[in-house]
Amino acid sequence: MSEKIYPVLPDAKANTLIDDATYQEWYRESVENPEEFWARHGKRIDWSKPFTKVKNTSFTGDVSIKWFEDGETNVSYNCIDRHLEKRGDQVAIIWEGDNPYFDKKITYRELYAEVCRLANVLKKHGVKKGDRVTIYMPMIPEAAYAMLACARIGAIHSVVFGGFSPDALAGRLVDCQSTFVITADEGVRGGKPIPLKANTDTAIEIAAKQELDVKNVLVVRRTGGKIGWVPGRDLWYHKETEAAEPECAPTPMNAEDPLFILYTSGSTGKPKGVLHTSGGYLVYASMTHQYVFDYHDGDIYWCTADVGWVTGHSYILYGPLANGATTLMFEGVPNHPDYGRFWEVIDKHKVNIFYTAPTAIRALMGAGDDFVTRSSRQSLRLLGSVGEPINPEAWEWYYHVVGDNRCPIVDTWWQTETGGIMITPLPGATKLKPGSATRPFFGVQPQLVDQEGKVLEGAADGNLCIADSWPGQMRTVYGDHQRFIETYFSTYKGKYFTGDGCRRDEDGYYWITGRVDDVLNVSGHRLGTAEVESALVSHHFVSEAAVVGYPHNLKGQGIYCYVTLMAGTEESDELRKELVTHVRKEIGPIATPDKIQFAPGLPKTRSGKIMRRILRKIAEDDFGSLGDTSTLADPGVVDGLIANRQNRQ
Ligand code: PRX
Repeated sequence: MSEKIYPVLPDAKANTLIDDATYQEWYRESVENPEEFWARHGKRIDWSKPFTKVKNTSFTGDVSIKWFEDGETNVSYNCIDRHLEKRGDQVAIIWEGDNPYFDKKITYRELYAEVCRLANVLKKHGVKKGDRVTIYMPMIPEAAYAMLACARIGAIHSVVFGGFSPDALAGRLVDCQSTFVITADEGVRGGKPIPLKANTDTAIEIAAKQELDVKNVLVVRRTGGKIGWVPGRDLWYHKETEAAEPECAPTPMNAEDPLFILYTSGSTGKPKGVLHTSGGYLVYASMTHQYVFDYHDGDIYWCTADVGWVTGHSYILYGPLANGATTLMFEGVPNHPDYGRFWEVIDKHKVNIFYTAPTAIRALMGAGDDFVTRSSRQSLRLLGSVGEPINPEAWEWYYHVVGDNRCPIVDTWWQTETGGIMITPLPGATKLKPGSATRPFFGVQPQLVDQEGKVLEGAADGNLCIADSWPGQMRTVYGDHQRFIETYFSTYKGKYFTGDGCRRDEDGYYWITGRVDDVLNVSGHRLGTAEVESALVSHHFVSEAAVVGYPHNLKGQGIYCYVTLMAGTEESDELRKELVTHVRKEIGPIATPDKIQFAPGLPKTRSGKIMRRILRKIAEDDFGSLGDTSTLADPGVVDGLIANRQNRQ
C-alpha cells in the first residue's frame, strides 16, 4: 500500500464544482436526509410528469427498489431533445475509427435525426415498449443510435460485447427471449476483422434449438465484407433508415420502466441479466459524470471502454449525453498502429478528460515513456481509472508521465450492478492516495463486515457492503428476482453485498482489495470461474476442471485451470492448445486460459467440495501457507499438484 498523499491540485480546486467543504456538507445531507437530497438532484433530468415520491426501497424480505416511482420521463429525450435548442450544433459524439485516418463528428441535431429514424425502423418491424432488443456491435456511432432508439420507444436493450462468442450470444438471446438483433457485417479492431454477422447467424441457430425464433437482424455495413443473408429475416440498416422519417416522439416512460439488461458474471451459474430502469439510473449516471469528472460545458471527454460493458453504457453514452457533453467513442485498441495511439487521439481531438482501465495503463507503461512524451497532452485536465484495483506503480506513472503532474486521477470503484460510480475522489475536493478509490459518492453508505456479518468500525479490513439504496442501483436479475435476493442480499441480511474485499484506513479512505467470491477480474473484465469450468468440461476429453485466478503483471489476474482428463486420455501440449481454443470458442477471447495444469486429482473435502483456497495458493506458488489440509478426502492430492506444477503451461 502506498503511503503517499497527493494534495488537491490548485487548478482542480479553482475550477471545481465541489470543494471539500461542499463534499462534506452534501454527503452528510445525502445520508441523513436522502429524500430531500435526491428530490433536489432528481430534477437534474427533465420529467414529462414530475415525481412526487422519491425513495421507496427495502433490502429485506422481497427486496424492492423504487426511485422517483410516480415520475415519467424518457432517457433518449433527456440525452438528445432537451439539448437541441441550446446546443443543436454542438458535437455530441466524436467517433475515432480503428484506422487513424477515419473519424467523424455527430452533432446533437444529427444524433436526433439518426436516433429518430432508427426508432421508426424498430417500430415498423413491430418492436414495442418492453420488447428486448439485442445489440451486438462494434464501437461505431450506430451502436449509440441503437441504444438511444430503444430508449426512445421503451424497448429494453441488451448489449452483448462484440468479443463474445456465438454460444455466449445465444445464451443471452435465449435468457431474455430477444427476437430482434442489431449487428454489423464485421467489426474492426487493430486492423483485424471480427465476424459479427457470421457469429450472429450461428448464435441464432443455437438459439433456435432452444426454441427461440429470432425475427429480424438489422445489419450495419461497416466493412462490406462477405456475409450470409437470410431474406425476410435480415435487413440492411442503411436501407431501412434511409426510408424512415427523422422524427419520432419519445414514449413517456415510468421512472421504474426498464431501460436495459446487461449480462454479467457471478460466482455461480450462467451470467445474470442485470436490470436497470429509467429515472434513477439516469439521474445517477449524469450526476456522477458531472461531479466525478468535474465536467464543464465545452469539455471534450473520452472514456475508452466498450459499449458492451457498463462503463460504456453509463460513461460513454448515458451520463455524458444527459449532461450535453461531447463524448468520444473509439473503435480501436491502444496499441494500433502503435502504443502511442491514445495520446495521439488526445492531441488530435483536444481531449480534456480521459477515463481508462489499469490494464491498459500497465500495458502502455510497459511499452516505454517515449510513446507518451512524443505527444503534447496539453489539453488534458483530468484522468480516470476503472475496472480493477490500480497498483501504485501504474498510478504514479499515469500521474507523472501521462498527466505531467497536473491532472488529478479519479480511481472510481463501482460495478455493473451499481449503475454508476460509488467510491471515488472528487477532483477538487479529495486528496489522493495512489491505489485507493478514496471516499464514497453522495448517497453511498459503505460498510465493512466480517465473515459473521458484524459491522466493523474505524480502520478495518472486511467485506464491502452498502447499507442503503442509491438511485442507480440494479432493480432485479431479469426474470429471476429470487436470484437477485440470494446473490446480493442474503449473505449479510439487509445489506447489499458487493462481492469485494476492502480495507478502510485511518482517514476513512477505502482500498478495494479484489473479489472475495469466485469471480475473476481479467484485464478489467469480469468472469465467473464456473463459466470457464463449464466450458472446459464440455470438451469430450475433460472429466473435471477447477479454475482460479492468480496475479498477472498485465492482466491483473490470469486464468489458471486445473484439468482432470478422462481415463486413458494422454496429456499433451496439443491437447492444452485445443482446450484453450475450446474455451475461446465457448465464451470468447477474454476467457483465454493463461495456464493449464493437468491434474489427475483435485483437492476435495470428504463431502466432495473442491478446496479452491489450496488451488489458489498452488497457482501463486505459495506453498508455505496452504493451511489445514487434513479435512481433505485425500491429502496426497496436494503433493501431487505441487510436484506436477512444473508441468503447467
Ligand atoms: O472487483 C471490483 C472491480 O470490478 C468489479 C465490477 O466489475 P464490473 O461489473 O465488470 O464493472 C466494472 C466497471 C465498473 C468490482 O466488483 N472494480 C471496478 N472498479 C474498481 C474495481 N476494483 C478496484 N478499484 C476500482 N476502481
